Amino acid sequence: MTRELRDCLGHFATGVTVVTCEINGEKHGTTVNSFTAVSLAPPLVLVSLDRRSKACQRLDNRPFVVNVLKENQSDVALHFAGIPAAGLVPWNGMKLRDALAHIVCEPWRKYDGGDHVLYLGEVKEIEVHQGEPLVFYRGAFREVGA
Ligand SMILES: Cc1cc2nc3c(=O)[nH]c(=O)nc-3n(C[C@H](O)[C@H](O)[C@H](O)COP(=O)(O)O)c2cc1C
Repeated sequence: MTRELRDCLGHFATGVTVVTCEINGEKHGTTVNSFTAVSLAPPLVLVSLDRRSKACQRLDNRPFVVNVLKENQSDVALHFAGIPAAGLVPWNGMKLRDALAHIVCEPWRKYDGGDHVLYLGEVKEIEVHQGEPLVFYRGAFREVGA
């Protein structure tokens, strides 16, 4: 079931984000495609993180930024998924340089999501830039196209 389910869910095309936070002055990020909008009033968004990941522990009760990646940032996506890219200088404060959008959140609630934890953030600040999104579909990075 697990393999078939993953394959089935992979048919749902998503954008790609990197969720970043800062702990004692040290910046951390993890690549996430489980990002979704939740509510406008109050403004809430959600990310789902694997319980076993370090990222999941880091996000507990912490402010975070959802950085929506542009089509030319697959190296950044891989970098924050454990495949480091040499010479990448991605940081601009707690945000990532050259992202398509930044969504700055305060922790709101967390919920049980089975082997994942669902973190809801209350949106405090948003920023949108020119460009096209990076897309994740059936296990591969794509571009939106014409
Ligand atoms: C395109 C893509 C999307 C991903 N989406 C998620 C996600 O939504 N949730 C998650 O927990 N991990 C996701 N991952 C895996 C994490 O980025 C990361 O590799 C893994 O959690 C290792 O985390 P750790 O170093 O914090 O333990 C994704 C990886 C890729 C390449």
